[in-house]
Amino acid sequence: MNETATLTLDNKTYPLSVIVGTENEKAVDIRNLRNDTGYVTYDEGFGNTGSCQSAVTYIDGEAGILRYRGYPIEQLAEFSSFIETAYLIINGELPVPTQRKRFSQLLTENSPIHSGMEHLFEGFPSDAHPMAILSAMLNSLGSYYPHLATNDHQRDLETYEATSAVIISKVRTIAAYSYRASRGLPYIHPRRDLPYCENFLHMMFSTPYEPYIALPEVAQALNLFLLLHADHEQNCSTSTVRMVASSGANLFASTAAGVCALWGPLHGGANMAVIEMLKSIHAEGDDGTKFIEQAKLGKADKRLMGFGHRVYKHYDPRAKIIKESFYSALASLGIKDDPLLNIAMRLEEAALRDEYFLSRKLYPNVDFYSGLIMRAIGIPENMFTVMFAIGRMPGWIANWKEVAANPKGRIYRPRQVYVGANLRDYVPPHQRK
Ligand code: CMC
Repeated sequence: MNETATLTLDNKTYPLSVIVGTENEKAVDIRNLRNDTGYVTYDEGFGNTGSCQSAVTYIDGEAGILRYRGYPIEQLAEFSSFIETAYLIINGELPVPTQRKRFSQLLTENSPIHSGMEHLFEGFPSDAHPMAILSAMLNSLGSYYPHLATNDHQRDLETYEATSAVIISKVRTIAAYSYRASRGLPYIHPRRDLPYCENFLHMMFSTPYEPYIALPEVAQALNLFLLLHADHEQNCSTSTVRMVASSGANLFASTAAGVCALWGPLHGGANMAVIEMLKSIHAEGDDGTKFIEQAKLGKADKRLMGFGHRVYKHYDPRAKIIKESFYSALASLGIKDDPLLNIAMRLEEAALRDEYFLSRKLYPNVDFYSGLIMRAIGIPENMFTVMFAIGRMPGWIANWKEVAANPKGRIYRPRQVYVGANLRDYVPPHQRK
């Protein structure tokens, strides 16, 4: 049965059809609203706006459910790897062994970056933030592959497999090089014999004289971190990628824009902000009690970072998984008594009992623990958000494809409600007050 909604405006009624998704999510279709009525909808922050139809990720924030391409995050976390999951997200299905092998080969072939690009890192000031470098480098990468970055969606789709492998593989090399450049360290080239996470850790931490051999637990913790960040539906950065893609822009440019959107502390920057918050609580000799009281005053600069989510009104399922794996990683690394971890535990306990957080349905999100994991495996703080970006790349790529391949796709161009000055005449400079 086709459902219809009815809207009454200026004493006229308008039928609006209802779109139902595969998980029975319902949306009122307002695509003709302005044409039919002259009105637009107003939804600042897009909390009630379905901006697209997507087949990549399903979230039920009330029930704490997250699935990539239909597969529960819990099963992928237990049985899959970041690279297999990346393939799933990018291509829609889990790979059969030959596809998996080919994907790995493409990643290996693509792991080095052009020597010309190495010089680009030198142009940045030594204290440049790695997120600024990452975004600039991703966009520059397109200029080394002009045939993969034509800004003609049809042609860019034909090379989608190659382009996605270039990005997934090189983002890790660029990330490691940006860290090395910021420390004035020589670049360590990727190795063909190492899996994805081990290779990244090698490029980060090996020296020309001594290879860094990652503990299996460390590589596993990184693998899980990346897998848990691989996609998350229409969040701020993914929506940005889609917005940029809708103009016809290529995959390099669109994902570079995603990096910029991810940088902010309300999005990917939260993992770094959590550690900064825990450190400042520790430095002030607070056990978390004072901070919780301040966070309840509702001031934007005193929020309990790593808590709350636009979509989850329940424990973030990724936070649950990362928290469990965190303890085994700590045990294998021999880390016993981390004062920041102790503060984090107390904050979580206190917030989960507090009426302010309960009534607003504010629970720990993935970033509450992911910063602590990164810290435990030796990733420097200003690289945390870069790690999130490496993880989110498959999701951005898959969302770019949905936009590029949509035969009915239109440029994203929201409307606004204008609240500025009314018509007035130009005032010459000498008459201005
Ligand atoms: N600490 C204290 N109060 C909070 C917090 C928090 N972390 N988050 C939300 N609130 C309060 C907020 O002040 C508001 O209270 P009131 O109704 O009295 O005005 C209420 O809860 C609703 O908040 P909101 O800002 O309308 O919620 P939102 O959906 O716009 O924002 C959020 C979601 C994630 C930006 C926000 O919860 C936040 O700033 N959290 C801290 C930053 C963070 O951890 N971000 C990472 C998100 S997960 C990673 C990702 O997917 O990017």
